[in-house]
Amino acid sequence: MSKVTVIGAGNVGATCANVIAHKDIVKEVVLLDIRGDFAKGKALDSFQQAPIDYYSTYLRGTDSYEDTANSDIVVITAGVPRKPGMTRDDLISTNAKIVNMVTQSIMKYSENPILIVVSNPLDVMTYAAYKSSGLDAKRVLGMAGILDTARYRAFLATELNVSPKDIQAVLMGGHGDTMVPLPRYTTVSGIPVTEMIAPDKLEAIVERTKNGGGELVKLMETSAWYAPGAAAAQMVEAIVKDENRIFPCCVNLSGEYGLSDIFLGVPVKLDKTGIAQVIELQLNEAEMKLLHESADHVKAVIDVYNGMNM
Ligand code: NAI
Ligand code: 2OP
Repeated sequence: MSKVTVIGAGNVGATCANVIAHKDIVKEVVLLDIRGDFAKGKALDSFQQAPIDYYSTYLRGTDSYEDTANSDIVVITAGVPRKPGMTRDDLISTNAKIVNMVTQSIMKYSENPILIVVSNPLDVMTYAAYKSSGLDAKRVLGMAGILDTARYRAFLATELNVSPKDIQAVLMGGHGDTMVPLPRYTTVSGIPVTEMIAPDKLEAIVERTKNGGGELVKLMETSAWYAPGAAAAQMVEAIVKDENRIFPCCVNLSGEYGLSDIFLGVPVKLDKTGIAQVIELQLNEAEMKLLHESADHVKAVIDVYNGMNM
């Protein structure tokens, strides 16, 4: 694979392009934005970092889809972010139009790309990109689970005073307040986290994780970008390197976990084809109930999208 395009050169898109370039895993990253020469400036700045940080990835900024031709992977970050007081779902009317338009434009110039959606409301925008692209569902995925899990891991690392590297975890469900962190699948270097932390402290961290995006919106008056950009770049890396890595990603479910006709966060194996396998965990009754509640919430927003007749 040699070419990755990132649509939207704002906070998340520019960060994502920059992190991908630092990984030195593709020949070229194209950064596209509708804001005139903005993407050109971001890409130029990012490429001027290459001699300092030692990478060869070329970054090209543009406002023309012709420059995205023959992309292997396209990351979609175009759209508006949340302001304080807004939920991710409040963004649907603006971002659905943008994501549909962007996806159709991408498909004019790239035959069979893998799409990674970042725009919110994430699960529904991933569904929208799937519908408007006509791509196989294995090639359309959304980024949220890596970010939400990273927040959970970071909070645990701080509480336990251990390196964030040593926290392994999985978090499922929609990218919103109904997300489902799974303490039963959380370890500290293989040690069950429940052996290292009091139940009330763990519960508080689970709650903080669910509100992790909102916490940052309150602090910055816009949503986060360093961890989100890096999370999308990690998905790109796993696909480009054909690593068979397992991450929670938003994907199409067709019967797994008793759910279908929905895009939702579950653990998947990523390879050069996109989603190589959806991993089905043996969830207990309480965990399954939370996952289905989260799915109900996402389905309600998908219904809103479908009602928009786009
Ligand atoms: P931003 O406002 O900094 O950047 C968005 C960029 O999209 C702007 O530069 C804008 O000009 C561009 N844009 C708008 N319409 C476009 C179009 N039709 N074609 C090309 N570019 C277009 O916003 P930020 O912070 O980068 O967030 C982007 C999106 O990602 C938001 O919807 C936000 O909610 C979402 N997000 C999702 C996360 C996740 O975990 N999935 C995490 C963080 C943000
Ligand atoms: C986040 O979780 C707002 O989805 C964005 O930071």
